[in-house]
Amino acid sequence: MTGWAGTGRWPRPARSHRTSSPPAVAAIPATPGNGWSSRRPPACWAWSAGVPDLHRHLDRPGAVIADLGCGEGWSTIAPARAYPGAALHGVDPDVPSTTAAAAHTADAGLGERITFTTGDAALSLPPATFDAVFAFECLHDLPHPVEFLDAARRALRPDGVVVVMDEAAGD
Ligand SMILES: C[S@@+](CC[C@H](N)C(=O)[O-])C[C@H]1O[C@@H](n2cnc3c(N)ncnc32)[C@H](O)[C@@H]1O
Repeated sequence: MTGWAGTGRWPRPARSHRTSSPPAVAAIPATPGNGWSSRRPPACWAWSAGVPDLHRHLDRPGAVIADLGCGEGWSTIAPARAYPGAALHGVDPDVPSTTAAAAHTADAGLGERITFTTGDAALSLPPATFDAVFAFECLHDLPHPVEFLDAARRALRPDGVVVVMDEAAGD
């Protein structure tokens, strides 16, 4: 569950068909109550099909996605259900949260496609690894949002996307 960095568990940036276009940063306002962080089913991810550039990344067979600030894993489990060809990796510094996230993932039968690491995402992300990096409902709380977003961007493969959703956008 923990310790991707240094244990060889990080996914490898293996594919060679990537373009060299700069990564996009998508800022999509969250809809209160849309439920991706709850136990609700992945219908809450229907919105992503309406964002073609994002859907294209998530729907790739073998897509590798990071969920920064994953909490207890609901924001990781929902997109894993919505995109069955993807592998997801949750990161959170809170041990009880990642412990619960691993348990919820096992209960959901998704242990083959979801892993978690306990740590500060700003310090623990491998470079050039992910097709998409999510930050759901966590940016507003961070003491170092710039470093966090910089790490998220560096963790992308060349044409990857960072997706930030936060109901507390005013913060
Ligand atoms: C409000 S919760 C959101 C959880 C989940 N993304 C969701 O939508 O259900 C914010 C999470 O961000 C985590 N967090 C705080 N600082 C972090 C950091 N430096 N790196 C990664 N996660 C962090 C917290 O531990 C907390 O679990």
